[in-house]
This record gives sequence, structure tokens and C-alpha cells, in this order.
Amino acid sequence: MAMIAHKCPQYKVTVVDINPDKIAGWNSDDLPIYEPGLCEIVKKTRGKNLFFDTDIGKGIRESEIIFVSVNTPTKTFGAGAGMAADLQYWEKTARQILQCSISSKIIVEKSTLPVKTALAMERILSSSDNRIQFEVLSNPEFLAEGTAIRDLENPDRVLIGSSQTENGLKARDELVEIYENWIPKSKIITSNVWSSELSKLVANAFLAQRISSINSISDLCEKTDADVGEVARAIGMDSRIGNRFLNASVGFGGSCFKKDILNLVYLCRSYGIHEVADYWESVVLINEYQKKRFVLNMLKAMFNTLADKKICLMGFAFKADTGDTRETPALYIAKELLAENARLVISDPRALQNAEKDLIDMDGDIAYIEDPYEAVKGCHAIAILTEWSMYADLDYRTIFNSMEKPAFIFDGRNIVDHQRLYEIGFNVYPIGKPPLSRI
Ligand code: UGA
Repeated sequence: MAMIAHKCPQYKVTVVDINPDKIAGWNSDDLPIYEPGLCEIVKKTRGKNLFFDTDIGKGIRESEIIFVSVNTPTKTFGAGAGMAADLQYWEKTARQILQCSISSKIIVEKSTLPVKTALAMERILSSSDNRIQFEVLSNPEFLAEGTAIRDLENPDRVLIGSSQTENGLKARDELVEIYENWIPKSKIITSNVWSSELSKLVANAFLAQRISSINSISDLCEKTDADVGEVARAIGMDSRIGNRFLNASVGFGGSCFKKDILNLVYLCRSYGIHEVADYWESVVLINEYQKKRFVLNMLKAMFNTLADKKICLMGFAFKADTGDTRETPALYIAKELLAENARLVISDPRALQNAEKDLIDMDGDIAYIEDPYEAVKGCHAIAILTEWSMYADLDYRTIFNSMEKPAFIFDGRNIVDHQRLYEIGFNVYPIGKPPLSRI
């Protein structure tokens, strides 16, 4: 919404939320989320044509177009628990829109939703006899965290799904007009509503599938002395495969991939297509396996006992350039290491507050230290879990000197110079490459 306000000064954009703390945060200099470049855009537009408010009724009444961006987490109760999307916030919003509206509106689905959710929205919105017309469009968001501003400014594509009726196409054209303020027409694609809803789930499933594919091969590389980086480069130069999203890692995290794939799996199961469901579910299963494997490799390398050993986790965010820790592999790894009675020092330039919240219920010895040089002091091992670029450039000789010996480094992101670290004296365990170890 900040980007729309920034690119379209002729529109007034109001963001409403039930959480007054969040709205206060958005109205302050300390925004509720860290995203490079976002603060600058918010500061430029806030109070001019971008507003943050808790008065949802007023926001609904005064708007002609409403982007619904409520969360749709994985259901934790009842039918489909652990798989299906929890649509309660979505439905409540639909009812509130109906209750507060005094004029016709275009409703845009921004949240990621199971296919056919727009139908439920339409049914709720047409359940009253107040003669107000609502047209529901699907306009999924494809931005990635950490690069959100760049992705919004220059997206690969914008997708708008509408019903193919006269009113549907008219509403679609109004939304196209907004994006045309900064995005070339060739990149704005349109479809029917169901294709648009499904494309969002499928895009995330394909992206996650690439990571699980290369991660599965990383395991085979470790067994065969092949190097996953070399394999990724060789296959990525095939233009049909492409070279992006082929970095083997400790596993993918984030609030979307797992949730969206499970949502897709649940949809397939509910239509009785279990073979297709199993196929996509395996993407998540390989990801769980990769995280588990990482901890077992640490245990094996460190003489099958981690009890009382001090281990520094470098990075807790699910990826670099964000403070977000939702579904971060680091959380699983921290819990498994604590279960082995290891002592943990967690370091991250942006995610320490969230890490503390995530681990609040855990017993055990956990310290949170932002400065990596302080964090590693007296540690037996380092596990690099987030690809923050600063971790590639640290002075590892100084770090080595301040650690217990033998010193281990487990590079869950393959971002450090393994040969150099080995020469300094570390026992080095990358992902999908032969270890460089004296043991
Ligand atoms: C993802 C998609 O990339 C966006 O297109 C989508 O809009 C978004 O989900 C969403 O549905 O909201 P995001 O979760 O922000 O974006 O981050 P990604 O860059 O996709 O990374 C996801 C995870 O995969 C991270 O843990 C990252 O470290 C990991 N990853 C990524 C790898 O392990 N290897 C890679 O080669 C790439």
C-alpha cells in the first residue's frame, strides 16, 4: 500500500488494522517490521496520501477499493488442522465490509488463499438485500521479504484475476489502471479468479520445490564427494532450468512456503487426488529432513555428544535482510541442540528480539549476543544459519583464537570461504560438499 501511495499521489490510501499497537508503530519512526527501503517510502507519503488508522468502519465506508490483506495461517484446530488455511479472519473481514458499506466497492484479495475463496467472499457480500454491488478480484502478492521494495517497484509480473462478466472486467480494468502508474502493461497479466488464486500457491510451491530438490541432492553430494555448488552451477546454466533459487541450505523457512504448500496439499486431498498431494507434500518432508540432517551431522562430527558444549548460532532470521523468524530453520535447530543439552549463544543483526520471543518457553542455557565476535567467545562450534553477508566477511582468525579447540564451523548457507577457514584451523562442515576436517 505504501508503494501504491508513493507511485500514485492522486490516490488516498488508508491502512486499517484491529491492532492499535501496530497502527501506532506504523505512525511512528520505528516501523513494526524491518524491510530495506520501506521506512523511506512511508516517511515520504505518510500524512500526505498514506494514512494508518484503527477505525476500520470508517476505512471501509470511505473507500472505493479495498485490499484485504488479513493473515490466513495454517489451521491449528478441527478439520484440516495442520494443513488447511484458517479463514476466520478472512470471513470476519467480509462480514465487516458488508456491515459497514454504504456504496458499491471493488474487493481485492491480497491474502494468499485456497482456490475458490473468492466465491465465499462473494456469497457473504451478496447475502444482504442492500443493493450494494461488490466485485471481488484476486491480486496475489509475489514480493519476497528483504527485497520487497525492489520487487514492488519492478515486479516480474502483476496478476489480476476477475470474473469474466461485464462488471468483473470493468473492476479488473480499474485495478490495472492503478498498477499502470509504474508498471509496463506487458507485465500486468489477467486471468479468471481461480487461476489467479491457484497461481499464487503454485508459484510458492515451485520455488520451494527447487530448494528441496537441490537440498536433496546436497545429501547425495555429501555421500559421494560431489560438490553441490558445482552441480548447481552446471545444471543452472541450462537456460531451461535457470540458475536462481538453487542455493543448498539448512532448509527453507518463512511464513509462506510451508503454509502454502500444505494448503495446496490439503486442497488436492479434499478433491481426492492423493498422488498429487503426496508429490507436493514431499517438498515439505525433504525440508524437515534437511533440518534434522544438519543437527545429526553436527552431533556426529562433534564426537556424538553436544552436552554442555557451547554453540554459537550465527543468524536466526529465516533469511538475510529481515528480522522475521517465522518458520525459521534456526528455531528447529536451536530446540534440537537444547534437547542435546548444548549451551546456545544466538547472534543476529536484526532478529534477536524475535528469537527471544520464540525461545521464551525453552529451558536451557541460552544467551543472545548481537556482536558475533563476543558471541563466539569460548564456543566449541559455530553454526551459520542465515545468509547475512556480514558473516562471510568476519575476521575468522580472531574468532578462531577466541574459541575452544577443536573448533568446528557448520556452514548451513555455504557463505564462508571453507578452504581459508580450514587453513586457519577450523574443522569445516559445509552443506553438500566434502567436509574439511582434521578429525
Ligand atoms: C517467498 C517467495 O519467494 C515470494 O515470491 C512470495 O511472494 C512470498 O514467499 C510470499 O508468499 O509471501 P520469502 O518467503 O520472503 O518469499 O523469501 P524467499 O526469498 O523465497 O526465501 C524463502 C526461504 O528459502 C528462505 O529461508 C531462504 O533462505 C530459502 N532459500 C531461498 C534457500 O534455502 N535457497 C535458495 O536458493 C533460495
